[in-house]
Amino acid sequence: MSFQNILEHTENGILSLTINRPDKLNALNKLTIHELSNALDKAANDTNVKVLILTGAGGKSFVAGADISEFAHFTIDEGALLASEGQMLLFSKIQDYSKPIIAAVNGFALGGGLELAMACHMRVASDTAKMGLPEVSLGVIPGYGGTQRLAQLVGKGKAFEMIMTTDMITADDAFKWGLVNYVTPPEGLLKKCVEIADKIMKRASPAAIASAILAINAGFDSDKNGFEVEISEFGKCFNTYDFKEGISAFMEKRKPIFLGK
Ligand code: COA
Repeated sequence: MSFQNILEHTENGILSLTINRPDKLNALNKLTIHELSNALDKAANDTNVKVLILTGAGGKSFVAGADISEFAHFTIDEGALLASEGQMLLFSKIQDYSKPIIAAVNGFALGGGLELAMACHMRVASDTAKMGLPEVSLGVIPGYGGTQRLAQLVGKGKAFEMIMTTDMITADDAFKWGLVNYVTPPEGLLKKCVEIADKIMKRASPAAIASAILAINAGFDSDKNGFEVEISEFGKCFNTYDFKEGISAFMEKRKPIFLGK
């Protein structure tokens, strides 16, 4: 399966997915959302892929939002469907993905672009990046989880400020507010993401990581009880090969070789 708007590159266990519409600042049109969703499905079962990095092509933009030209004439129902389909196909899929996904924010991350980065498990930004949710300036609100995830990451007060003022914030402010994990010079962005990915791959059981992702996310889902999910996922770990290997390796004073099951 090859894609028109997504570049895939796998190296040393890391799959880089690059959104490749630089002439439109990588705006998320319907095709791009479907292709990203399909690329994630494909990678979920690929044992060569341990960690994913998501970035944008062209140096100027991560993603400059949902493609405005596609929803200019939508009705109420079409608008709601756009948000619900996008959330289901892509944004929720990323959030609950069983392998770590790191957003390499290499430029503008606006609207749906910042929502995409926020759905990822971690964010590293280049010091040239600009982030914001400008939707209310178009007369809409964020529809790909932005009202929820921004408040979870930066707190309600800053989320109100960013959404209401539509301010684009710098990478340094994003770091101070907890929106991104690290800020790097542009040329160090992917290196930092790879460094994080390498730590994960060297140290962690993929099976335990998948459980931790579910447990952490459950605490932010009003339909779930995070503590109960943690208990259940904790219990499941005891039936994995990785747990037996992790404990044996510790006892035998050697490095574990995890299989992710
Ligand atoms: N949807 C569709 N097309 C977009 C887009 C979006 N969200 N963001 C940028 N583009 C397109 C522009 O229309 C332009 O296409 P064109 O050359 O065919 O006219 C191209 O990408 C380059 O953008 P341009 O605006 O010329 O670049 P700039 O450097 O002057 O400005 C931004 C950069 C990011 C400030 C500006 O593009 C912008 O405000 N984009 C919209 C951001 C937004 O509101 N996102 C939320 C959407 S809900």
